[in-house]
Amino acid sequence: MTTHSGRHFLQIPGPTNVPDRVLRAMSAPTIDHRGPEFAALVRELLPALGPVFGTERPVVIYPSSGTGAWEAALVNTLSPGDRVLASETGHFATLWAKLATGLGLDVELIPGDWRHGADPDAIADRLAADEEHAIKAVCVVHNETSTGVTSRVPAVRAAMDAEAHPALLLVDTISSLASIDYRHDEWGVDVTVAGSQKGLMLPPGLGFNAVSAKALAAHADARLPRSYWDWTPILDANASGAFPYTPATNLLFGLREALAMLNEEGLPAVFARHQRHGAATRAAVRAWGLEVLCADEREHSGSLTAVLLPNGHDADEVRRVILERFDMSLGSGLGRLAGTVFRIGHLGHFNDLTLAGTLSGVQMGLQLAGVPTKPGGVEAALELLREAGE
Ligand SMILES: Cc1ncc(COP(=O)(O)O)c(C=O)c1O
Repeated sequence: MTTHSGRHFLQIPGPTNVPDRVLRAMSAPTIDHRGPEFAALVRELLPALGPVFGTERPVVIYPSSGTGAWEAALVNTLSPGDRVLASETGHFATLWAKLATGLGLDVELIPGDWRHGADPDAIADRLAADEEHAIKAVCVVHNETSTGVTSRVPAVRAAMDAEAHPALLLVDTISSLASIDYRHDEWGVDVTVAGSQKGLMLPPGLGFNAVSAKALAAHADARLPRSYWDWTPILDANASGAFPYTPATNLLFGLREALAMLNEEGLPAVFARHQRHGAATRAAVRAWGLEVLCADEREHSGSLTAVLLPNGHDADEVRRVILERFDMSLGSGLGRLAGTVFRIGHLGHFNDLTLAGTLSGVQMGLQLAGVPTKPGGVEAALELLREAGE
């Protein structure tokens, strides 16, 4: 293996680069999770977490990956055989639907082309036809990490309201939270699912559920088996600054620091930064003469961009060349997109010059891998960054 100097460029769309401040905060001695110092940490953390989700309601924290938080959202609100409506926006929406089926739920996955977000009209049609209100939940992946497409959650909510349908709205924000504007309370979301390893700038290992009053009411009657994921013992313990089982103490130290960083920058500025970086990346891709996978101008992701390669070119070969020559990791094409797209992560702890370096590596890698490209992609991005910064 080649030896590289300098820092590795981790430009996959999560896990993302962990800021030094967060790393330092985590490298502290683990404390007694039943002691007063830990209780003070929990009492500080929980209220500080709400604004990131846009909620004044409780947020449950799990020592888990995002998949655990997916499962938690379902087992806490639904019963065996309940109907669930989901949209096939990409690999992660498909995996969530598969997980739901595995739990004994009756899932309808509205087919999609993996280039668009959840279609509010298609959801409205299914809900309108469901006169008996057999559908108990609508699941939406806010930002499809496999495609770089952001679904319009408020439009989905409006479609549900227009049909006066009582289904719960469950939203996966694993690659949008703290990167793309998101409002749990204002948008009427019932359960928001999140993870630590993307916009929150932490290592993998924490999962989250933000819970509406309606979701908590559904929880009281839900009959899917649950134990580890059960919200009730967690919410009860949280009230006294504790958890019902050993929490991921050092990740919580990191979370406190990451929330402080997000507050210092301000969430609106964080969202605007991600949008600028998305726009600059698309400017580069288009100047190279390549295609962005997302096919709807309203749905471009601020946290990642998936780039389609021309027929006959292997996206994994481009990624291999870039890793070997420039020590940069890019996201692979997932599921049916394997080999045809690569994904540029521009989320989390990231700035204009990190993006400039990232796009320079991509441009050189495309040329070295023999992908026909026009020059000027990096220049197009720099121009946009310079102007947008004025
Ligand atoms: C949108 C989305 N949902 C769910 C997951 C699964 O999360 P995890 O891999 O942390 O279990 C991911 C992982 O990247 C994701 O991007």
